Amino acid sequence: MANRNARSIARRRIPTRFRRIIIICLLIFSALSFLIVTNFQTFTYLLRPIWDKPPAPFRRVLPHFYAENVSTAQLCRLHGWTARDAPRRIYDAIIFSNELDLLELRWREINRHVHRFILLESNTTFTGIPKPLFFARNRDRFHSFIPDRTRIHHEVYAGRVRDPAAPSDPFVQESLQRGAMNAVLRRAGVSYGDLVLMTDTDEIPYPHTLSLLQWCDGFPPDLHLEMPHFMYSFEFPVDYKIWQPSAHVYGPHTLYRHQRQTDVILSNAGWHCSFCFRTINEYVFKMQAYSHADRVRRKDFLNPDRIQRVICNGDDLFDMWPEEYTFQNLIKKLGPIPKSTSAVHLPAALLENPHKFKYLLPGGCIRPLE
Ligand SMILES: *[C@@H]1O[C@H](CO)[C@@H](O)[C@H](O)[C@H]1NC(C)=O
Ligand SMILES: *[C@@H]1O[C@H](CO)[C@@H](O)[C@H](O)[C@H]1NC(C)=O
Repeated sequence: MANRNARSIARRRIPTRFRRIIIICLLIFSALSFLIVTNFQTFTYLLRPIWDKPPAPFRRVLPHFYAENVSTAQLCRLHGWTARDAPRRIYDAIIFSNELDLLELRWREINRHVHRFILLESNTTFTGIPKPLFFARNRDRFHSFIPDRTRIHHEVYAGRVRDPAAPSDPFVQESLQRGAMNAVLRRAGVSYGDLVLMTDTDEIPYPHTLSLLQWCDGFPPDLHLEMPHFMYSFEFPVDYKIWQPSAHVYGPHTLYRHQRQTDVILSNAGWHCSFCFRTINEYVFKMQAYSHADRVRRKDFLNPDRIQRVICNGDDLFDMWPEEYTFQNLIKKLGPIPKSTSAVHLPAALLENPHKFKYLLPGGCIRPLE
């Protein structure tokens, strides 16, 4: 009798315990699903090594030789190329948003080598927000070092204003604007055999890279330019992984693009400074304007105090996991970018105007609001 009683109690107890376990499991599961859904992007970035592949490696990485005071002819020979009698004409073609300071550093740095500067400026951002024509308004700023106005070919691109009823992909808008550059190149007078630089404003080729491409013959006509990557200022060197910029000997098949064009890349060919802005408001503008604006997942990402803290620490503006393709590299990149105290081999105009460009130098991380 006692035995049968105990058995029936046990029979009643087991289902209750199960029910409890099931409820707990359900709670944990819904909490996790909630976390994953609300932080979807964070999770996908964390798991990038599983779902994403790195861009194919370059088949040929050309070593890059340079030291001050070595003749161009000798530098051409070191690369296995031959020296020319006359320099090739260089066209610097960029699509422009609002990076006036970087534009000044860029143009001052490469001025000597460039035949004509081509600048295509949109009146909207890639995300479809109308924007002032920053270059057109500030053109005089460049007059002191580019007095000949015909050396600047400036055109306005009619951007598409965001329509909430028919949203469009910012990446598509970006690629349309780059596509429009092909006609601009022709109107600016580029001819076959000239060198065309396809880079963003913040990707500044070293002057000696341009001198090499201008005075040598025999290099591959389509060439990516590898650049060290800096974040916020030259105080935060990230890595050497920038490969998107390229240089092209213009021909019938040249297309203006900012993606993989060929399998050949020239090492260490310039500086790339991402998110290198003077004011906190420019950060707020850029975070909403650029093609990855969906990374602003929370309103407080745009909080000025937070932005200032992030910039001084070398943290991530969007609280993202590092964009890496193996867990090993992802873990290596965790945490803030280590600070550098080197201001050796930076754009000359930066060192000649240290007060004006203080925020780009080591130790200058504090930004005014506007
Ligand atoms: C630079 O080159 C010139 C001649 O080519 C030479 O006279 C001079 O000593 C060199 N300077 C340095 C610092 O090597
Ligand atoms: C942009 O420029 C085009 C051509 O000048 C013009 O038609 C369009 O209205 C402009 N858009 C904005 C937002 O100003």
